[in-house]
Amino acid sequence: MALERPDPHVIVIFGASGDLTRRKAIPALYNLYAENLLPRHFAVVGYSRTDMSTSEFRAAMGQAVARYSRSGISQRHWRPFSETLNYFSGTYTEPEDWERFKKFLDQIDSEHGTQGRRLYYCATPPSAFPQIANLLGKAELTDNSRIVIEKPFGYDLESGQELNSSLHEVFEEDQIFRIDHYLGKETVQNILVFRFSNGMFEPIWNRHYIDSVQIDVAESVGVEGRGSFYEGAGAIRDIVQNHTLQLLATLTMEPPARFYAESIRNEKVKLLRSVVPIEPDCCVKGQYTSGVVNGRSVPGYREESGVEKGSKTETYAAMKLGIENWRWAGVPIFVRTGKRLPKRATTITVVFQDAPHMLFENSGLQKPEPNHLTIRVQPDEGITLTFGAKVPGPDMEVAAVDMRFDYDESFMAEPAEAYERLILDAMSGDATLFTRADEIEQAWEIVEPILPQSDVEFYQAGTWGPEAADELVEPRGWL
Ligand code: BG6
Repeated sequence: MALERPDPHVIVIFGASGDLTRRKAIPALYNLYAENLLPRHFAVVGYSRTDMSTSEFRAAMGQAVARYSRSGISQRHWRPFSETLNYFSGTYTEPEDWERFKKFLDQIDSEHGTQGRRLYYCATPPSAFPQIANLLGKAELTDNSRIVIEKPFGYDLESGQELNSSLHEVFEEDQIFRIDHYLGKETVQNILVFRFSNGMFEPIWNRHYIDSVQIDVAESVGVEGRGSFYEGAGAIRDIVQNHTLQLLATLTMEPPARFYAESIRNEKVKLLRSVVPIEPDCCVKGQYTSGVVNGRSVPGYREESGVEKGSKTETYAAMKLGIENWRWAGVPIFVRTGKRLPKRATTITVVFQDAPHMLFENSGLQKPEPNHLTIRVQPDEGITLTFGAKVPGPDMEVAAVDMRFDYDESFMAEPAEAYERLILDAMSGDATLFTRADEIEQAWEIVEPILPQSDVEFYQAGTWGPEAADELVEPRGWL
């Protein structure tokens, strides 16, 4: 993990006129700069097809930081940071542009003392990744450098493998950093600390004590103007193949031998290999119709721009998974994700088995809720342990009560943006929080049987998804 400032670097952002640059990459770099975490010698080069001068780029990025930075913008930091921003306009097809670009980078190196070390951050549509890698290779710009790419890593197993091979033609695997921004979230990193720095949970973290696991990634937003992208994706490709399976692997993998990237990623891949590919009859797909979310009327998915009128793309998916290994055999894992649900909440709930003999059931009183541990990934970050307690009074009435850990209360700090941590780690060459080629391919294998489009169940925006999903979790119900 990154503890020291990284070595001098030029950070090249491909797709510099796009949304990801504006919303995430530049605000993250700005906050790293404000916290003195960037290398002492560094520069940023924005690359895109749009014709723009460096000063126009700086002005646009200033507006982006003011709007999207978690800490706002202060002129004290913005002024010197903005002087490190440069812009280069070029194509993703013409080798001549890349010859010019190479000279431009050499000039930046000599001006900023960045010693030819580069981090290429691809904030472009995924179709451009292989082209960018190829042109970097042809222009001999790959030494002493790393490349960061964003999901989607392909569309299915075959295209995922093709993407990996085209990157491997030019870069070694240890130069490739695939971002799954969920891994950069403090609460997800804390799963590792929770599991492996505490002695008390590990002995019960298995099929002998755990009844089931529920992973929920609920969003209240819709497709946010990305209808045409989402049409080709759907909830399974957009969330399950990557974010949810990474949460699952982090929660259920074996303890790694060391806290090193390869050690951890080996365990994750081993776990993913034990997950049984999901049968279509263990998956319910849904699509939202118009409704009311947070008091606001919202259109149905089929009415969003860029979406086919008769679209069968799922905006919701619930499924039951199984892990075939000694630790987890027979423990069902329920996964649920959807857009336009009543609220934004990502949680992992570990449900423990009931006490072997229920003393208090005989008194005719209600059976208490099962003991469960809820990891609140976001928002309201923290962990809750729910167990039964005696309700004061003459009866032996049992009620579920909570023991809570809240990040903001315990640490008086709001977690940093995932992108800050991830960009910093990529510069330091620490791949712990990035997804390796074999993890990506294994994750595609798990979801492959449920990728083909099938009928969707409709649910009204602002509800918790189609009823058919409830049958999956019977007799427990969603917690
Ligand atoms: C992205 C998906 O990867 O994750 C989006 O493409 C989704 O559709 C987003 O909204 C959710 O991220 P977060 O951090 O808000 O949970």
